[in-house]
Amino acid sequence: MSIENRKKEHIEIALSPESQGPLTTLFEDVVLVHNAIPDVSYDEIDVSISFLGYKLNAPLIISGMTGGTEKAFEINRRLAELAEEFRIAIGVGSQRAMIENPSLLYTYKVVRDVAKSVPVIANIGFAQLKKIGIDQIESMVSAIEANALAVHLNPAQELVQVEGDKDFRGVLDILKDIVSKLSIPLIIKEVGNGLSKEVAEKLYSIGIKIFDVAGAGGTNWVKIELLRGLKSGADMTRFGEVFTAWGIPTAASICEVRSVAEDITVIGSGGIRSGLDIAKAISLGADLAAAAQPFLKSVAMGRGREYVNTILRQLKTAMALVNSKNIEELKHAPTIVLGRLAQWICSRKLRLRNNHIYIHCCY
Ligand code: FNR
Repeated sequence: MSIENRKKEHIEIALSPESQGPLTTLFEDVVLVHNAIPDVSYDEIDVSISFLGYKLNAPLIISGMTGGTEKAFEINRRLAELAEEFRIAIGVGSQRAMIENPSLLYTYKVVRDVAKSVPVIANIGFAQLKKIGIDQIESMVSAIEANALAVHLNPAQELVQVEGDKDFRGVLDILKDIVSKLSIPLIIKEVGNGLSKEVAEKLYSIGIKIFDVAGAGGTNWVKIELLRGLKSGADMTRFGEVFTAWGIPTAASICEVRSVAEDITVIGSGGIRSGLDIAKAISLGADLAAAAQPFLKSVAMGRGREYVNTILRQLKTAMALVNSKNIEELKHAPTIVLGRLAQWICSRKLRLRNNHIYIHCCY
């Protein structure tokens, strides 16, 4: 199947409820402790942060999703309008299509053309990265005037995808070489199965400082590939369905990656659906959050602005209720971790960022 058709199918299936779950993010096990005497004014709550040398008006990224088709051009244009209006960061989808066919550049470049005052994040999968050299990577990122390159690691998706690249050898050596030569920061991201402490430690040791956890609990690429397989008649369901609940839930993955070092930027993503999810992600150790599917869905319905306004209002409301005037204060808001997430953190002996997190069990 051509990349173009594959992209179309991905978008169609990602918009359907079947593309989500069955795992949860485990944010349901995170409780921000209610403060009945907040000493803040809602209107003065400041959710701005610095990211990639820009001031963002909210700690939020529209995750990389698409590019390479006429429909993707239109989606990217609308997403970029949102990013520019709300001053939040934005990623493009995998740039593989434009590497193979440079005439498709416009479907990605529209993001920079429209979102002139926010960070734009280039995107490539590890499977393609290993086939191209640093010069081609540099021209791919400069063609869209990107401020960072996200390399997505998606072994689970590749393994269940009919056309998937199933040779993962040499990841660290290749990334080490690229990170030392690349002129902009390199972000490592998963696509919905999460990053572990061990993986983040190895990547940190080769110089990577920004991690987008893209944990389990939101869009599920194993499910999406199995649904695609079913449609094309290549029924992989019997083999693959046991892996639909595979992965590290987002809340757990934030704790895993944050435990590695203080001087890293942790992006909490995978199933971020509300402003309360963003607040919980930040209180657990993320510096900012990202989401993909909700943005796709809301712009498809012409409700992008409404969606962003709602989640920002939810974030600020949660911050008012934990007496946080800004994102730095939210990082210290008293937080209780219960249930499966507490068991996860304790059994993995994860060191969390601050002593404002109370865990039910251990240490
Ligand atoms: C994605 N995602 C993705 N990620 C990436 O690094 N490169 C890509 O090309 C794509 N393509 C893509 C297409 C569509 C339609 C969706 C919905 C998602 C993954 C995305 O960036 C994100 O990591 C996951 O979707 C998890 O976030 P959500 O959707 O649960 O908020």
